[in-house]
Amino acid sequence: MPSENFDPVEVAALQPEHLDAAVDAALAAFAAVTSLDELKTATLAHDGDRSPLALANREIGALPPAARKAAGQRVGPARGRVRQAAAARQRELEAERDARVLVEEAVDVTLPTTRRPVGARHPVTTTMERISDGFLAMGWEIAEGPEAESSWFNFDALNTPPEHPSRALTDTFYVGSDTSGVVLRTQTSPVQIRSMLERTPPIYIVCPGKTFRTDELDATHTPVFHQLEGLAVDEGLTMAHLRGTLDHMVADMFGPGTITRLRPHYFPFTEPSAEMDLQCFVCHGESVGNPDRPCRTCKSEGWIEWGGCGMVDPRVLTACGIDPDRYSGFAFGMGIERTLMFRNGVEDMRDIVEGDVRFSAAFGVEA
Ligand code: DAH
Repeated sequence: MPSENFDPVEVAALQPEHLDAAVDAALAAFAAVTSLDELKTATLAHDGDRSPLALANREIGALPPAARKAAGQRVGPARGRVRQAAAARQRELEAERDARVLVEEAVDVTLPTTRRPVGARHPVTTTMERISDGFLAMGWEIAEGPEAESSWFNFDALNTPPEHPSRALTDTFYVGSDTSGVVLRTQTSPVQIRSMLERTPPIYIVCPGKTFRTDELDATHTPVFHQLEGLAVDEGLTMAHLRGTLDHMVADMFGPGTITRLRPHYFPFTEPSAEMDLQCFVCHGESVGNPDRPCRTCKSEGWIEWGGCGMVDPRVLTACGIDPDRYSGFAFGMGIERTLMFRNGVEDMRDIVEGDVRFSAAFGVEA
């Protein structure tokens, strides 16, 4: 029942063969695409607002009401088939893409890595930290001073007379000329002076740091080495406090029950002065006179020399503006490289100095 208003061309668009042709064209186009992008373009062409089927759909409104239903029943399923085909192709292409990505982006976890080996902290550093930590735990503080030090701090204030042999060029590095008044500190003891000038008693400090002497590098010497200095200034301090402090430090470092022994000695800045030995932490003295059980660590001597110590000379206190009638102090200092040699069995100083990471790594991480 065509009416005069029908445009014969557009109505032709609603004819079954045209609709079938549009569907076939769409299915062929979807089958031909090889990528999701191409599918998008094809879907727009065959199911978009300007696609033949969308245009046909629009014509339905122009049909006389009686013809609309039949036309709708032809166009609707045709569009449905096109959409289903597009969706099916979409799923296919997505599955293909996912499979491809799995292959292309696969990681071979068995390949050898190119990771760089990590470094290691030097045992000189960790040993200084370990001793310092024991003092920090008792409420002591860390003090610092310069490595290029005025000879006044390094010698004079420490009561070292002008003619003392340690000042000689054969022992001390002078910065510039030997009259410059500046040396590379030969000991950490000048930090005692700096601490007493900067702080007011009670003073409880340790100073780990670098020290320098004009020694040739060999199996037992190095021109750059490290010391750890301790200083306590308070009312009523005696050698018993010194001894107790050293015993505590030694037990902390070498195991409970390891004790110290003081042998009289001379240092310009302490009076009385002593050399500090620690009882061998391996044999605890049992190797002495016992040839069946020799001890490599103490060479069967039972004791190991560890450093110097003493009661701060009142003249040093006075030079630092501290009243020796009210305050007394004790001090001690020991070499870190030497500590490593007997504590960790390092036999050649050059191993400590050379900086081969394998040497440091062998020490691992110390708690
Ligand atoms: N400074 C001394 C040295 O290098 C070691 C030393 C001895 C430090 C006695 C001290 C001390 O604090 O009281 O040989």
